[in-house]
Amino acid sequence: MKITFRENGPIILHTESELSFRSGGAEDKKPSPVKLCRCGQSSNKPFCDSTHRRIGFEAGAAELEVVPIRGRCSNSSSSVFETPSARNTTRVRPLRRALR
Ligand code: FES
Repeated sequence: MKITFRENGPIILHTESELSFRSGGAEDKKPSPVKLCRCGQSSNKPFCDSTHRRIGFEAGAAELEVVPIRGRCSNSSSSVFETPSARNTTRVRPLRRALR
């Protein structure tokens, strides 16, 4: 999965398959890419509704690639990712950072 932090805009999740979201007991599936609000002003949270443009939201751009670990949690339908801070269960590789 790739996560893009768009300059002055949302967080974008790029995946190979659709993503599932649960809210208030209801589950919703969305095709990739999914735009998540980063400015906090969307009327459709957690998703971006482009309000960031109207309010002049400012933030830097960045991009991460999250690599899933194959062969773990075989009884679970959820993915496991590697990151250095999660005791070797998730790995996050920064690809590009252009922060102001
Ligand atoms: S980032 Fe787009 S509405 Fe918040």
